[in-house]
Amino acid sequence: MAPPAATVLILLIATTISITLCSALDENRDVHIVYMGALPKGEYFPEVHHNSILQESLESSSSAANNLVRSYRKSFNGFAAKLTNQEREKLAKMEGVVSVFPSRTLQLQTTRSWDFMGFKETVQRVPTVESNVIVGVIDSGIWPESDSFTDEGFGPLPHKWKGICNGGENFKCNKKLIGARLYNSYKQANATARDTIGHGSHTASTAAGNQVNGTSFLGLAEGKVRGAVPSARIAVYKACWEKGCEDSDILAAFDDAISDGVDIISLSLGGDSALDYSADAIAIGAFHAMQKNILTSNSAGNNGPFQSTLSSVAPWLLTVAASTTDRRIINKVVLGDGTTLVGNAVNSFDSKRENKLPLLYGRDTTSTCDEVAAKQCVTGCLDESLVQGKIVLCDSKLMGKEPLRVKATGVIMVDDDGVSDVSVVFPLAASMLDMQSAEKVSSYINSTRKPEACILKSEYLVGTDAPVIPSFSSRGPNDITGDILKANISAPGVDILAAWSPVAPPSDVQEDKRSVKYNIISGTSMACPHVTGAAAYIKTFHPDWSPSAIKSALMTTAIPMNSSRNPDAEFSYGAGHIDPVKAINPGLVYDIVEDDYIKMLCSINYTSAKITLISGNKGSSCPKGYRGAPKDLNLPSMMSNSAQTLFSRTVTNVGSAKSTYKAIVTSHSKMKITVTPNALSFKAINEKKSFTVNVSSKELNTKGLMSGSLVWSDGVHIVRSPIVVYRR
Ligand SMILES: *[C@@H]1O[C@H](CO)[C@@H](O)[C@H](O)[C@H]1NC(C)=O
Ligand SMILES: *[C@@H]1O[C@H](CO)[C@@H](O)[C@H](O)[C@H]1NC(C)=O
Ligand SMILES: *[C@@H]1O[C@H](CO)[C@@H](O)[C@H](O)[C@H]1NC(C)=O
Ligand SMILES: *[C@@H]1O[C@H](CO)[C@@H](O)[C@H](O)[C@H]1NC(C)=O
Ligand SMILES: *[C@@H]1O[C@H](CO)[C@@H](O)[C@H](O)[C@H]1NC(C)=O
Ligand SMILES: *[C@@H]1O[C@H](CO)[C@@H](O)[C@H](O)[C@H]1NC(C)=O
Repeated sequence: MAPPAATVLILLIATTISITLCSALDENRDVHIVYMGALPKGEYFPEVHHNSILQESLESSSSAANNLVRSYRKSFNGFAAKLTNQEREKLAKMEGVVSVFPSRTLQLQTTRSWDFMGFKETVQRVPTVESNVIVGVIDSGIWPESDSFTDEGFGPLPHKWKGICNGGENFKCNKKLIGARLYNSYKQANATARDTIGHGSHTASTAAGNQVNGTSFLGLAEGKVRGAVPSARIAVYKACWEKGCEDSDILAAFDDAISDGVDIISLSLGGDSALDYSADAIAIGAFHAMQKNILTSNSAGNNGPFQSTLSSVAPWLLTVAASTTDRRIINKVVLGDGTTLVGNAVNSFDSKRENKLPLLYGRDTTSTCDEVAAKQCVTGCLDESLVQGKIVLCDSKLMGKEPLRVKATGVIMVDDDGVSDVSVVFPLAASMLDMQSAEKVSSYINSTRKPEACILKSEYLVGTDAPVIPSFSSRGPNDITGDILKANISAPGVDILAAWSPVAPPSDVQEDKRSVKYNIISGTSMACPHVTGAAAYIKTFHPDWSPSAIKSALMTTAIPMNSSRNPDAEFSYGAGHIDPVKAINPGLVYDIVEDDYIKMLCSINYTSAKITLISGNKGSSCPKGYRGAPKDLNLPSMMSNSAQTLFSRTVTNVGSAKSTYKAIVTSHSKMKITVTPNALSFKAINEKKSFTVNVSSKELNTKGLMSGSLVWSDGVHIVRSPIVVYRR
């Protein structure tokens, strides 16, 4: 079986562009991951073992040396190898092997955004601790000379850092950018960790970049750029290239990052479908990170607005949806008759109202294509002689490559499926109109002999509507473990200004030769590093908190979102919109230890043998007669698929030693929620108290989603959990 078609999550007109991997591999052999769980304790030589079991499974004519791609041996056990189907089946049955799965190709998915979350420049900080936080970014590399990554004012490297700077030729680290490694499955010549795509520089600067004054994208969104934790250090793991990110490389990056000593791992990338945890490279890497107290935050994906489009579903991951901020970038199109239409585009090209240009319809600008293709401005259709210097109307969404090729001055496009509610950068003056506005342009063209128009430079709409979840952000429910609520949380992912690679085109068109140091892009890719940064910020106040305590703090203090403006409600935004300042003082946390995750795996029928391999603990098999369910995981969210569900939860007091919290429940009219006991009294910090939540819904037969919430409050803290009932 071939690996699923190639699929970092940056938004390109509301869809990720999937590039099919041209496999340079042997005809019948695909790269597979052979996952072997935790590293065995005691003396163990991983590479020797990997070679021997690989050799044992190979057909007689092949050698392990030729087919072993890489060994994972620092933070967990396993290897990547080229295998036939038969060899794969043989290996899967061998002792010590948890799973064998094809290596997939995954895809990559401002300043203003932090202020919008109430996270001001002047927030309280713990600078000495912050400078010891190391953020690991698995992405497309970084532009090391960017102002966002200079090391002025940085002290010596943190003692715990065990990594290296191995970014290739002319790639230098400094006291801010402390580590770099690259994983080059695509065998690119002269590869370095330098970012030629722009994505990796963007995400790293959002999470932990310096504050840089006076930045803008060609004059748009002018202001300061800053990461959440500007004093923190960055370590870069380049696993993503123009073709995508190979699972085998992502696992190698986790293997290194965990043993290098990073505190948090940020991955703005993913596949287009959810997989079983033991066949999902990100879930595996993040599990072993969690064992070492390292939190992994991952973008939810850009496959919305449909349900069940999340690919990041493991409970130990923080899955981040994208939301809008109160600043939207739009631009206007003015027609010859004075009609002004509002469209979506990040348009830096300056044009005045009075300088109108001839406007023509794609349909009328071709001598080679049929009407349907011409209307949509399909590649190769437009005639340069007809279009050069003019504005062309195209009946579809484009990245602008074809109009650019024929030297058009501008392009007006149509959001033909009604899901492009964000603005992107195009290589020429452009605007994306909704169907209704586009109709007006086309009837205007019909109504006059000399149609003309101009496309104005972008402006800001300071809206009151935010935050809402844009169409592109992937939605739950979680198809692997239905009773675990995903996405978890949302953060700004629309129109985000951050660092860019000056050799990468600012739009998605390679022919776009503009070079910029900062760029505005959208995607769950942009939301993820906001949460990574916020988690790093919390860690500076609570260095001993577990990843799940940090996650809990972020979720229970999140700002609830308005479900009437977000049709998929909790499936789109989880607990709500992050509030990093509140999250440092959550009052109570829902903590989860490794054993709890093990029990969850038991409840979804992982065998004891498999679980022992994954955890590396002989003792951690499924308790005899264990009858739990995934809903029993001590999450700060509750999700039920049935008419009646009893949830057990335990909270740990991290607020005031002596405090009493009362339960406040809100619910959909058809839900009944009772909490027992409905008050919790604490006498000490770190004291734990348990309670149950009985959720029943009257109308069994109603399909869809109903939601409510539980808030524990002591009058100072508000500890909120979303409660969702969903029936397919
Ligand atoms: C790689 O570097 C070598 C030596 O500097 C050079 O000759 C070659 O053209 C480079 N290859 C690519 C693809 O840039
Ligand atoms: C950036 O601007 C702030 C004031 O807004 C100022 O305090 C700071 O020193 C400036 N930083 C640099 C590097 O110029
Ligand atoms: C403009 O004219 C074309 C061809 O005559 C027609 O197909 C199209 O529907 C017209 N558009 C509008 C909005 O009237
Ligand atoms: C939620 O959105 C609806 C529709 O836009 C609006 O009528 C309502 O007032 C909003 N509720 C809150 C609490 O903001
Ligand atoms: C696990 O196995 C039990 C008993 O065979 C079954 O009822 C249950 O549905 C299974 N759970 C999952 C998640 O497959
Ligand atoms: C939960 O609530 C339902 C409906 O109100 C009730 O029938 C059931 O007995 C309750 N379960 C528990 C364990 O309290």
